[in-house]
Amino acid sequence: MAHVARGLPACRLALESQNLERRAANRHPATEFAIRVGVPAIDREHAALVAQLDRLNANPDAHPGTETFSEILSRLGRQINAHFDSEEAILRECAMPTEIVLEHIQAHTEILDQYSRLNLELMNGKALSRDEALGMIRRWIVDHVLHHDMKLTQYVHTESGTPPNP
Ligand SMILES: [Fe+2]
Ligand SMILES: [Fe+2]
Repeated sequence: MAHVARGLPACRLALESQNLERRAANRHPATEFAIRVGVPAIDREHAALVAQLDRLNANPDAHPGTETFSEILSRLGRQINAHFDSEEAILRECAMPTEIVLEHIQAHTEILDQYSRLNLELMNGKALSRDEALGMIRRWIVDHVLHHDMKLTQYVHTESGTPPNP
């Protein structure tokens, strides 16, 4: 099976030793899911994205169409863009099969498309409930991490050169 280049320094530098028990213990209080992939830079960026989701959840006045919602959505868009760039750089350097990398990048593209569509619809005055908007944003952040980003844990290597336990 075709693989992207494996074991490059930039990838190894981004990793830390870990095991499943530690990952399972590290659950975000807002999501109740373990979303730690074990690459410090990625985990930090995920935490920042979840923090924006938490801000929206915690603010009952942040309805689609309000200034508060727009501000958080704009910030989230910039963060998501920057995060996908840095994550894709790591994906390309880690020992992950090319087809999984491409599927993952395609999922990023779909999220960015949905983000653009949402902005366009809000600009055109489309009525969207707070629950619908928060559900969509949660899928971009939490569901995406669980379905795609977590696959990284099977391919990233620890400092000792061995992958974490499955
Ligand atoms: Fe991702
Ligand atoms: Fe991610």
